[in-house]
Amino acid sequence: MRVEFLRANVAGELRSLMTFDKKVFGPDAFDRAMWQEMDAWWMVVDGVKAGCAAFEGDVGFDRHGEPVREKGTLYIATTGVLPRLQGRGLGRLMKAWQVAWAQSHKYRRIVTNHRASNAGIIAMNKAFGFRRIGRIKGYYSAPDEDAISMELVLRK
Ligand SMILES: CC(C)(COP(=O)(O)OP(=O)(O)OC[C@H]1O[C@@H](n2cnc3c(N)ncnc32)[C@H](O)[C@@H]1OP(=O)(O)O)[C@@H](O)C(=O)NCCC(=O)NCCS
Repeated sequence: MRVEFLRANVAGELRSLMTFDKKVFGPDAFDRAMWQEMDAWWMVVDGVKAGCAAFEGDVGFDRHGEPVREKGTLYIATTGVLPRLQGRGLGRLMKAWQVAWAQSHKYRRIVTNHRASNAGIIAMNKAFGFRRIGRIKGYYSAPDEDAISMELVLRK
């Protein structure tokens, strides 16, 4: 299996990113404006766009879930694998790549927010050493749900 992580050209590939996101996240998919603020990466497996990740650098969150500028914090906004390719270890590979990317770009910590019911990603993050740092009331809509905020400290 050949796995590559390729930087997406967000402006040029907006439609393709949004279509992919819709397939993975349905109603939680990001809108155009949100995509335009992020760095996006494709995980290409044997020539197929199997996964997508999006980051925002130097961004953290206050306790109300509002983004704040926070030097040295990498916000992982999305981690997604195509439904038909889930459960084969690709999410784990992508998470390992994200952590390595943050380390090599000298980030001090990673933060991420997930639906409280998303047991899969919360368990996977814990396996990588992330810890829960808070719960943000009503962060998600349709359906309304709290977010669990998690962080991984890379260096003190
Ligand atoms: C979350 C996601 C990225 C994981 O990718 P994946 O390729 O399916 O995951 P993997 O096959 O690499 O599994 C990684 C680990 O996830 C954990 N996991 C997955 N589903 C789980 C569940 N329902 N409950 C508990 N743990 C679960 C396991 O620890 C698993 O490791 P294992 O091999 O020891 O079982 C993928 O399922 C996905 O895109 N889901 C929809 C989008 C989403 O919710 N993204 C996260 C929020 S940004």
